[in-house]
Amino acid sequence: MNSMAQRLMHNPLFSHVYERHWRPVFTRLFSLGGTGTADFDRALSAYLSRPGERLMLDVACGPGNYTRRFADGLTGDGRCIGVDYSPAMLAQAVRTNAGGHAVYLRADAHALPFPDDTFDVVTCLAALYLIGDPLPVLDELLRVTRPGGEVVIFTSVRTELNALPGVGRLAEMSGFRIFGRDEITNRLRSAGADQIEQTITGQGQYVIAVKPD
Ligand SMILES: C[S@@+](CC[C@H](N)C(=O)[O-])C[C@H]1O[C@@H](n2cnc3c(N)ncnc32)[C@H](O)[C@@H]1O
Repeated sequence: MNSMAQRLMHNPLFSHVYERHWRPVFTRLFSLGGTGTADFDRALSAYLSRPGERLMLDVACGPGNYTRRFADGLTGDGRCIGVDYSPAMLAQAVRTNAGGHAVYLRADAHALPFPDDTFDVVTCLAALYLIGDPLPVLDELLRVTRPGGEVVIFTSVRTELNALPGVGRLAEMSGFRIFGRDEITNRLRSAGADQIEQTITGQGQYVIAVKPD
């Protein structure tokens, strides 16, 4: 935990302002003031919070902003488990986004404390670019997904703009990784994922993949 971005995630003050003040601005920044990312985000949230009795895992959940939203759609014994390694973020999640079908657990995304083939849906949103050694995390997300289940990712992607030397260097210095266009999809494919869909919105990419039956 060394980069500026990683230190920020462990800061209690940042965890307080994250959901309401930081995340909406950050989402807009991904489409550079446009609404492409926010529009896709809304559609994806609606899909993931549709009513049903699912077991969901939200990896690197931060203050539980998505965990709670997904959990609110769940019925019966459905649960959405938010996992994060920052105590400050988890404390905020428990304060503001727990209850109902949302629960939280502290764990490292590289070693999720769940058996193989457990979850109907596994999400990792706006986090992979901050996680050290992120590609093995993709294998781990797929490992805990049940056959026929989905892995959903939102992260950065290399574009003409962020490939400019000054921008790339700034991102690197703050601990923010920019993924090559095929880096995420190739790794998921190598790990055995199927039906991989990638949508690029501005500076970000959404990837949805299925673990084959
Ligand atoms: C920018 S927040 C994203 C929160 C939320 N998913 C969202 O979309 O708004 C990134 C989160 O990743 C978490 N994180 C970073 N590295 C991690 C790791 N190795 N294991 C678990 N969580 C990690 C941080 O603590 C932080 O809460």
